[in-house]
Amino acid sequence: MIPFKTIIASAVSIVLLTACASQATQQPESTLKEAFGEKFLIGAAVSQRQINGHDSAALALVAKHFNSIVAENCMKSAIIHPEEDRYNFAPGDSLVAFGEQHGMAVIGHCLIWHSQLSHWFCKDKEGRPVTPEVLKQRMKEHITTVVSHYKGRIKGWDVVNEAILEDGSYRNTPFYEILGEEFIPLAFQYAHEADPDVELYYNDYGMNVAGRRDGVVKLVKQLQERGLRIDAVGMQGHMGMDYPELQEFEESIQAFSSTGVKVMITEWDMSALPTVSFTANVSDTVGFRKAMNPYPEALPDSVSQVWNGRMKDFFRLFLKHADVITRVTAWGVTDADSWKNDFPMRGRKEYPLFFDRDYQMKPFLKELMNE
Ligand code: GLA
Repeated sequence: MIPFKTIIASAVSIVLLTACASQATQQPESTLKEAFGEKFLIGAAVSQRQINGHDSAALALVAKHFNSIVAENCMKSAIIHPEEDRYNFAPGDSLVAFGEQHGMAVIGHCLIWHSQLSHWFCKDKEGRPVTPEVLKQRMKEHITTVVSHYKGRIKGWDVVNEAILEDGSYRNTPFYEILGEEFIPLAFQYAHEADPDVELYYNDYGMNVAGRRDGVVKLVKQLQERGLRIDAVGMQGHMGMDYPELQEFEESIQAFSSTGVKVMITEWDMSALPTVSFTANVSDTVGFRKAMNPYPEALPDSVSQVWNGRMKDFFRLFLKHADVITRVTAWGVTDADSWKNDFPMRGRKEYPLFFDRDYQMKPFLKELMNE
C-alpha cells in the first residue's frame, strides 16, 4: 500500500509542477518594444501587401514587436497623388488604422522626394518643367492636402527626402532645378502650416559621409535660423558588411544632435552580401551573377556571425545615444520583404533585416534582449 504521506507529497508536486508549467506558458515572451521601448521607438516599414493581409505572419510580428510603423511606399507622391486632381488615400488610411489599432506611432514617408515622384508634379502638359510659381503652388497643395488628411494621426513626416549629395551640395532634382535651395524651407513651412503639432524631419542616406553630414547640418541650421520647425534628422541606415564605419556614423549622430534636433534611424537594413563593384568583369556573366548572388540557398553561419556582430555593434551605438535617438526603424520585417532582394539583379537573395524568412528573430536581437 502507498503511504498516505507519499500520496499527498506527490499530489502537491503535481499541483506545483502544473502551476509552474502554466506560469511558463502564460509568461509573455519578451518583445522588442518591451526590451527597448523605453530607450526609443522601435519601428518597421510595412508594405501594402502586409496591411492587406497577404502576409499575416509578418503583420503579427509587427503588432507584437514594434511600437511604430512607416509606409514602405503608399504615401510617396506617385502612389498617394497619382494625378494632379486625384488622391489615393485608401492604402495609407488602412496603414494608419492598423497603427492606431495597436497604439503605434505612425510616421509619414515622404512629402517631397525626386524619386517615386508623380509624373505630373514638376512638368506641364507638354512635359516641360513648370515655372517656380506653379511648382510652389503644387507643392503647397500636395503637402497641405496630405498632411491635413492625416492631421492628429501621424506623429511626424519625412518632409524632404534625399536632397543633399555626398559633397554637401544640393542634388540636382526637378525641385532644385526649378526652385533652387528654397524648395526645402518651403516644404517645411507648408507642412507646419497644415499641422502645427506634427513633427517634421529631414531624411537622407549615406549620412556617415562627412560632406553630406556637413551639408545636412548647414541645412538644419538654416531652417532653424529662419524660425522653421524641424524636429529630427533621419539617418536612413542602409548599410553593408563594409560600410559605414561605426565611428563615422557616430560622428554624424553627434553632429546632427548638436544642432538641437533629435536623430532617427529611419530605414535600417544591412546587406549580408559582399559589396560587388559594378565595374566587375561583366563579360563573365556567369561569374558575375554568382558574385552578385553568393548565398542563393541560405546565409553561411560564418557570414551570419559577422552580420549579427555588426548589427549588434550598431544597435549598441544607438542605445549609447538613446538620449538623442528617438526612433530606430527597420526597413521591412523579414528578410523576404527587403527591397534589397532582386536588386540590382533578379533572384538576388538578401538577409538584411531583424527577422529571417521563417519569421524567427535574428540572434543579435535575442542577445541584446538578454543583456
Ligand atoms: C530610399 C527611400 C525609401 C525606400 C528605399 C529603398 O531610402 O527613402 O522609401 O524606397 O530608398 O528602396
